[in-house]
Amino acid sequence: MSHFRYINKKLFAEKVSVSTIIKKNKTPFYLYSEKQLKENYSNFIKNFKNVNPLICFATKANTNLAILRTLGKLGAGADVVSGGELLKAIKAGIKPNKIVFSGVGKTEEELRLAIKKKILLINIESESEAVLINKIAKKHNQKVSVGFRLNPDVDAKTHKKISTGKAENKFGLSIANFSIFYKNIKKFNNLKTNALSVHIGSQILNDAPYKKTLNILSKVIHDLKIKPKYIDLGGGFGVSYNKKDKLINLKNYSKLVLKFKKKLNCNIIFEPGRSLVADIGVLVAKIQYIKKSHKKDFVILDAGMNDFMRPALYDARHEIIPVTKTKIKAKRSLEFVGPICESTCKFTKYIKFQKISENDFVVITNTGAYGSSLSSNYNTKPLIAEVLVNKNSFKIIKKKQNLLDLLKS
Ligand code: LLP
Repeated sequence: MSHFRYINKKLFAEKVSVSTIIKKNKTPFYLYSEKQLKENYSNFIKNFKNVNPLICFATKANTNLAILRTLGKLGAGADVVSGGELLKAIKAGIKPNKIVFSGVGKTEEELRLAIKKKILLINIESESEAVLINKIAKKHNQKVSVGFRLNPDVDAKTHKKISTGKAENKFGLSIANFSIFYKNIKKFNNLKTNALSVHIGSQILNDAPYKKTLNILSKVIHDLKIKPKYIDLGGGFGVSYNKKDKLINLKNYSKLVLKFKKKLNCNIIFEPGRSLVADIGVLVAKIQYIKKSHKKDFVILDAGMNDFMRPALYDARHEIIPVTKTKIKAKRSLEFVGPICESTCKFTKYIKFQKISENDFVVITNTGAYGSSLSSNYNTKPLIAEVLVNKNSFKIIKKKQNLLDLLKS
């Protein structure tokens, strides 16, 4: 969040005061910093410099076309999980030969699209999917470049709703099943096994699960005598939402990956999502009402769980900060909530906060990842606008949805 900071008690995004943007755009809206995005990408590259990986941005974290275009220009590829994300990545200028496609339930239509576009890898997650891809490819007399996503049964030690690499999770093929399946791989004439992939979870703050995964992969590759051109190690790198979140030392992990790469003589792919975009964005909201209750005041924002789901879905804590600071303290505890008719439409609680009033503005921090992309029309609310700041200018990169469009069906 280094590009969102206070200057003379006013919150700035790069060189523009958030108040200035509020004057031109009705709240709520997402606000992103282009500089932060570029910095995050170059820091990621720096950390893995010697590994020289292909970075396939997990577009599900933020599917805004302007964000994808910026990343594409910086050299990123894309990890997509639907035909829609695939088309969006291509529209953003990302070349199909830098796109990987993951997901347990790819439809025939989506697979046809991926095959037609000749993407870098379709990461297969079940035997049945392999059969279907082979069938489609045969019809078109094509050899399709695929990876197999393995489920290493590793506990990523993260929130259980965003853990994906344990046996109980639906993702990937178990090592046992893959080993049996792979013995018959030659029957799949139209598949070219170019990769193995893993993705063990998200918001990972502990490097032990990553190390464990590398060891498991090494063993499978050795046992089955596979010579993959690529190993796709997925994403999952955690970010610091709160002061207590200690980040993984990516440089140390990078050393391990380099060793792994040299041993196997393969190329490495990463699929980071959150770590590239979480801190590029905030959600700007107005205090609609302040309502006294028995023990605290409810601060009712004009942004709700429809706009930003993470607190409701994962009990995620995102700090809320004022657009204009004051030293005067609020007299009571506060709970920031949204307007949606669900008790889970609430954000963050504070015992101590500054004095605030109705019609003041605040921002919910670190909402660049899985913010807009998880938003919905619940309660027939239009999707909100997105604004991108670049140095001392800003532009709308997604218009607020027209309410009339919601009245059509
Ligand atoms: N690759 C695959 C195959 C994935 O499923 C995911 C995320 C990623 C990469 C990117 O993971 P990241 O680097 O962003 O951790 N909505 C949840 C996160 C769900 C992640 C799903 N998969 C949240 O807001 O915490």
